[in-house]
Amino acid sequence: MKNILAPSILSADFKILGEQLKETEEAGAQYIHFDVMDGIFVPSISFGMPVLSSLKGFTEQVLDVHLMVTEPVRYVKEFAKCGADIITVHLEACEDVQGTLDAIHECGVKAGLSIKPKTPVDALLPYLDQAEMFLVMSVEPGFGGQAFIPESLERIRSLRELLEKQGLKTDIEVDGGVYQTNVAEVLTAGANVIVSGSGVYKGDIRKNTAGFMEILRKY
Ligand code: DX5
Ligand code: ZN
Repeated sequence: MKNILAPSILSADFKILGEQLKETEEAGAQYIHFDVMDGIFVPSISFGMPVLSSLKGFTEQVLDVHLMVTEPVRYVKEFAKCGADIITVHLEACEDVQGTLDAIHECGVKAGLSIKPKTPVDALLPYLDQAEMFLVMSVEPGFGGQAFIPESLERIRSLRELLEKQGLKTDIEVDGGVYQTNVAEVLTAGANVIVSGSGVYKGDIRKNTAGFMEILRKY
């Protein structure tokens, strides 16, 4: 499995979003992490389809859409149309998890399934072979800039074990409070897709991205 950096644009400066994205791309980040919040599943509201549409075709980076939205199945087709390459939904937000993953696949898009910090990893068991990526939240979803919850490392380890037992090499993404200072632990625990918002966009974006990529290449 390849190690991938997915800078979260939630922490970007939207008046110069295009420029900032290019900096992450040129410094080696393979994905753009796109956080959609509906004010119901999570307390905050972020951005949605029109912003995604304007990124479609602008960059070679993979558009990694994280839907923090109640009943995300309602929006799967539209996000696929707007350019999503991966659509990740929350297990806690879906009445029919399997149906939602199927709807994503029917659009020809990769499916991700996410759990919040308090949801047991075992809740993913019925879906282990049904998604291309699992997202382990390492903060309560809703805001950037929160501190990494240390128990997340154990959760990543146990998910990696469960996948390995079934012979699956599925991507594990980690999201929340990841910086260059703790990313090595996260990779060692078994994650390979690293989301970072503040860790990339606060300060020198090019330098932050390059710093992350150097560590990611070593693991
Ligand atoms: C939080 C979002 C994250 C957020 C991460 O709910 O899903 O993607 O942008 O931000 P940092 O890296 O600042 O914790
Ligand atoms: Zn996210």
